[in-house]
Amino acid sequence: MADTILSDALTVGALRHLGGVALAAGYASNIEDAAQDADLVSLITGEAVEPDVASGLLGGPECLAACLASGVAICDGEGRIRLGCSLLVGLDTLAIEPSAHQPGSRVYSGPDTWILLEKAWRFGLGGGRAVDLGTGTGLVAAFLTSRYDHVTATDLTPSSVATAAVARELLDPVRRSRMSVLRTDIGHGLPDHAFDLVVSNAPWVPSSAAGGEVCADGGPTGQELSLRFLSEAVRLLAPTGVVVLLCADLRFDDGRSPLAEALSRLRSLGYATEVEVTPGQGSFSFVDPVPNELEGLVSGRHVTVIVHRPSLTPSRH
Ligand SMILES: C[S@@+](CC[C@H](N)C(=O)[O-])C[C@H]1O[C@@H](n2cnc3c(N)ncnc32)[C@H](O)[C@@H]1O
Repeated sequence: MADTILSDALTVGALRHLGGVALAAGYASNIEDAAQDADLVSLITGEAVEPDVASGLLGGPECLAACLASGVAICDGEGRIRLGCSLLVGLDTLAIEPSAHQPGSRVYSGPDTWILLEKAWRFGLGGGRAVDLGTGTGLVAAFLTSRYDHVTATDLTPSSVATAAVARELLDPVRRSRMSVLRTDIGHGLPDHAFDLVVSNAPWVPSSAAGGEVCADGGPTGQELSLRFLSEAVRLLAPTGVVVLLCADLRFDDGRSPLAEALSRLRSLGYATEVEVTPGQGSFSFVDPVPNELEGLVSGRHVTVIVHRPSLTPSRH
C-alpha cells in the first residue's frame, strides 16, 4: 500500500488534497465531532462514498483514477469508492494507516499514538534535532518537523518505514526536507548525544498477548524491549535534551519493578525523571485488570516516562 502510494505522484497529490480539505474543515482523527461532513469522515476513515464525492475530495477525476489504478482506492460491488487506508489528521499533520497488512507487520496507530502526539507537542518545544524511535505511521515525527530543524523517524518493519515515508511525502516541501526515515533496530547507527528530543511509543505488550505483531511485542513481560528503547533513547540524548517514552510499568511479587529500577539508575547518574500515569486505563486493559498470563505480576499501569538530561550530566549511562 505505502510503496504504491510513494511510486505515484498523482496518488500522493490526491491524499494531500484530501488532507488539505480535512485540515481546512478542522477535522482531527482523535476527536469525534458530529458536526463534520459525513462524506469527508467516511472517506478518511476507509468507508465507501459515491464516486463523485470521492472525486471531489481527492482533487478531481484524474486523481481518483490514479488512486484506483494504484489500488489505493477501491471500487466496491455497488460502484462506491473507499480507500485502502485511513488518513490520520492531527495538529496540522497527516499520515496514513493501511487497512490491511501481512501477519506480523501491522503499521500501528491507536489511542497511545494520540497520547504521544500530545506529549510531543508539550515537551518538544523546538530545537536542532529530534528522533522518533519506532515511528509506525510517522505521524509524530512528521508533526515534529514544525518545531525541529531535523527529525529522524526509525522503525524495524519495512511496512512502517514505507508508511512513514508517505507521511513525509504529505508534508509541504520545507517540512519534508527536515524529515528522514531510517530502517534500523531502535536507534542503531544514530550518533550518541546528538538529539534534543527523543520520543517513542515502544512496544510494551507481553509476547503471549501480542499475536506475533512486531508493533506490540515487547518481549516475555513486555518490559524487555521497552527498557531497551529507554536505554537507546538516553544514549541519543544531547545535554539539556528530553526523552518522552510511552510504555508499561509492571511490578512483580518478588519485588522486581523493572522500569522503576531503570529510572532509579538514571537518577543516580544525574538525570531527572518523571512518570505520568495514563488516565482512564480502559484501552490498556492488558495490564489493568492484571491478567494471569504473567507469572508473579502484582500490578501494571500504562505510563509516560520523561527523562531530562541536565547540561552537565555524565555522557555514560
Ligand atoms: C506501539 S507501536 C508505536 C507506533 C507509533 N510510534 C505510534 O505511536 O503510533 C511500536 C512501533 O515500534 C516498532 N518497533 C518494534 N520493534 C522495534 C525495534 N527493535 N526497532 C525499531 N522499531 C521497532 C514497531 O514496528 C512499531 O511501529
